[in-house]
Amino acid sequence: MEDFIKKNLIKVNSFHPFYEKALNEMLLAGGKRFRPKLLLAVVRAYNPFLVENAKYAAFALELIHTYSLIHDDLPAMDNAALRRGHPTLHVTYDEVTAILAGDALNTYAFEILSKAPMHNDIKIELIKILSENAGPNGMVLGQAIDCYFENKKLNFDELKFLHLNKTGKLIAASLKMGAIIINKPDLAERLYDFGLKLGLLFQIQDDLLDLLDESETGKSSGVDKNKNTFVTLLGKDEAISEADKLAGEIENELNNFDENLKNELGKLLEKYLFRHKKMAN
Ligand code: IPE
Ligand code: IPE
Ligand code: MG
Ligand code: MG
Ligand code: MG
Repeated sequence: MEDFIKKNLIKVNSFHPFYEKALNEMLLAGGKRFRPKLLLAVVRAYNPFLVENAKYAAFALELIHTYSLIHDDLPAMDNAALRRGHPTLHVTYDEVTAILAGDALNTYAFEILSKAPMHNDIKIELIKILSENAGPNGMVLGQAIDCYFENKKLNFDELKFLHLNKTGKLIAASLKMGAIIINKPDLAERLYDFGLKLGLLFQIQDDLLDLLDESETGKSSGVDKNKNTFVTLLGKDEAISEADKLAGEIENELNNFDENLKNELGKLLEKYLFRHKKMAN
């Protein structure tokens, strides 16, 4: 995946002194590439020959995710200075550059997807899944609720709604897009539900990361104090038990998948399912 990303970075010819560099900076800063890896794991499980072509869709997910991080860090949102071990774009350059880099990555995701060597019907379906889950009824909705309700307490169901939209839906979309590429629509629906649960777990673990030192996470810590998170609403210990419960359920569901899928996803998820354990002390 890293080679693919490097080969397909955004190219711009202009006399702007740092525009092109700024657009690619957060992509090159690394990150776990969790969403692309989920998509590719599903494809690899059923048709390894399609993995190379699937990287276009995997990169589209990473572009949307990276744009969401750049905007998430802006002063108007979480006001964070560190991301992926690097200063955020509004710190290195200015707010205008960070806003526009997010805009550019968001649009470029669909440019890349449109150029994927896949059947047009499949590409339309992928565009539909990606836009539905990242857009107004997905990640953006989650971010809107996250920011609007800062300093205003949500109830538990509302908190779950927030996390499912903010983080769950893009993770669920990653798995679903993988299943669409290998032409398994029934599996796509099943994986979507599995992915929502996985995304919820991922965000609870992320809420716990906010308690750690920046040197461990590579991103600004302590920015969630006035937010609705599993940690601020339930406390650290209960957030960890909630994560434990979810991780157990996800593990059981994983064991019911076809052997090949169980193996591919299992390899990837072993690093993530019990990530919260090391935060318990
Ligand atoms: C962080 O996502 C933001 C959330 C949606 C929880 P990641 O933890 O996947 O961040 P990177 O991509 O590894 O930087
Ligand atoms: C952000 O959630 C989720 C996105 C859609 C970007 P957070 O605000 O908790 O993510 P981090 O902790 O800054 O990575
Ligand atoms: Mg945020
Ligand atoms: Mg944040
Ligand atoms: Mg967080």
